[in-house]
Amino acid sequence: MTSPTSVPDDLSLATQIEHLRATLAARRSIGFPAALDIDYGPVTPLFGLLINNVGDPDTDPDTGHTKAYEREVIDWHANLFGAPADDRWGYLTSGGTEANQAAILLARDRFAGANPVLYYSQATHDWIRKTASTLGLPEVVIRTDASGEIDYDDLRGELARRRDRPAIVVANAGTTVTEAVDDPARVRFAMSELAIRNSHLHVDGALAGVPLALLPDRSVAIELGSVIDSVAISCHKFYGTTVPGGLVVTRRSLQRAARRISYTATTDSTISGSRCGQLAVQMWYALRLLGEDGHRERAERARETARFAHSLLASVGWPAWRNVHAFTVYFTTPPPVIARRHGLSNADGGISHLICMPGVTRQQIEALAADIATVKGTEQPSPSRGVRRLVPVAQLPLTADRT
Ligand SMILES: Cc1ncc(COP(=O)(O)O)c(C=O)c1O
Repeated sequence: MTSPTSVPDDLSLATQIEHLRATLAARRSIGFPAALDIDYGPVTPLFGLLINNVGDPDTDPDTGHTKAYEREVIDWHANLFGAPADDRWGYLTSGGTEANQAAILLARDRFAGANPVLYYSQATHDWIRKTASTLGLPEVVIRTDASGEIDYDDLRGELARRRDRPAIVVANAGTTVTEAVDDPARVRFAMSELAIRNSHLHVDGALAGVPLALLPDRSVAIELGSVIDSVAISCHKFYGTTVPGGLVVTRRSLQRAARRISYTATTDSTISGSRCGQLAVQMWYALRLLGEDGHRERAERARETARFAHSLLASVGWPAWRNVHAFTVYFTTPPPVIARRHGLSNADGGISHLICMPGVTRQQIEALAADIATVKGTEQPSPSRGVRRLVPVAQLPLTADRT
């Protein structure tokens, strides 16, 4: 289940690499959000080449790049998120974190000199905090309800206290632990009602931005035309790309001033500069292979698996919760030996989660539920969501290790 923690040096290079490949391939954690159902094998030959999409996606350098593929990927997502055809821009990043940072940076630059404030909920990913401190933005943390969704009254109150300052608000489309969604339409409404003149509404959709935008009823308004100003996603989560990556989409009218870099023959307004060209091809491949309908079906199947997981845990008497549309089921943390075996993280407050990303199987969930059922006789969840330990974990009977 684990990644290697040291490099064996008594093996040939080829054996070491095969050993590493086999070890990593055996990792199939249900606790971390990476889809496993798309085979990127056909793109693998490109990994023997240096492909650098240096600078903005709009300008092509003389060196090897895949920017035409990147532009198609950005355009696909601009359509998905309803960006106006004549006012859309974005780029592929090193991950969701850089994509969020790029959006917040352009929002800060929009309001340079006007003292903007960054608002986000307490369930927001820690790396938004990191971004606030990197960019020197004053921040206000908003309360959430028990599910992890932002408290709109608290947000409204905090916005009202600083009405004359530009507001940069981060709404979550899937918080890290519970996959809670902050409704962009309600956030926008709060800002409009308060007549805040300068605002930027960014959606951190790293986890669920794409699956939510694919909902047939479009009930979550991740809409770049009318509601939000920018959105970020992680590519290695829903698309399961084998290189970590992210993507930011916004309106071209909000793009930061691009500088012409004569050395690379491109313009640049990105954070990273040099960027992974293989990522663009993997993303293009996933979109061309399955299309919008195919990805919608993947999302719906993942939700069905999550519904199954939720009811299975309930059936073995283990307290579990699931937010509407979520791939995530969160529950009282089981004993460490079970959490380790199934690759579950332990979030604050004795809560763990499993994330039914595409590729997670019912067998994996049944294995977890079986292990939990086995200890149920000796360990009982307490009303405070904690676990009352009755026998040492080492003595607990467990089903056979499946890793
Ligand atoms: C809600 C949310 N935001 C941001 C991130 C960071 O994304 P990345 O790991 O792609 O940098 C994550 C990753 O877990 C996330 O779940």
